[in-house]
Amino acid sequence: MRLRHKKDIENFDFGDQLIKQVDQPLVFNTPKVILEIGVGKGSLIKNSALNNPTITYVALEYNLTILQSLIKAKTVEKINNLIIINNQALNLPDFLSFSSLDEIWLNFSDPWLKKRYHKRRLTYPTYLNIYANLLKSQGVIYFKTDSSSLFNDSLTYFQSNSNFQVEVLTYEKGAFCTEYEIKKADLPIYYLKGVKI
Ligand SMILES: C[S@@+](CC[C@H](N)C(=O)[O-])C[C@H]1O[C@@H](n2cnc3c(N)ncnc32)[C@H](O)[C@@H]1O
Repeated sequence: MRLRHKKDIENFDFGDQLIKQVDQPLVFNTPKVILEIGVGKGSLIKNSALNNPTITYVALEYNLTILQSLIKAKTVEKINNLIIINNQALNLPDFLSFSSLDEIWLNFSDPWLKKRYHKRRLTYPTYLNIYANLLKSQGVIYFKTDSSSLFNDSLTYFQSNSNFQVEVLTYEKGAFCTEYEIKKADLPIYYLKGVKI
């Protein structure tokens, strides 16, 4: 499965390996559910799912071309605890129920540095309010970036949102990494967690 052209990809039937739309929010049968938003090629979530079969991992990415390798890995390696959604973060409430998530991961989200595009940032207040609804009480958002500007603004977004208690963390490389985490390994990486209160 290697589709190069956007038109071919949009028309390809990935069957139940890929979710593009739903009639009602998804239901998961594991006690713990983790969502990663903007997974890109998805190596972190793939390896996490392979190593933690009792956790459900939900991968969200709006670029279907980038998602291909993750869909292929899910199919070939039969990663049944990995759910892949091809859609936009603003539509998450269509796919996931209120208070259904234990964690949300935002890794190296696009910084959108120009002020007129700040509202596209995945940590922008509009998005934080969506995440607050989807997280269980005490659920956690982990946010990692190499952009100091995005980080500092995001800290403000979290601090201004009464749903979250925010804490700046010291970044340490974990057992598995995202593609950008490897690419940016020589740069300072900023890290925070926001706990839903
Ligand atoms: C800079 S890349 C980082 C990819 C990956 N997280 C990593 O660390 O390697 C950001 C990704 O987020 C996706 N993305 C950006 N905004 C999104 C949105 N609103 N909904 C879904 N995906 C989004 C982009 O398509 C892109 O693949």
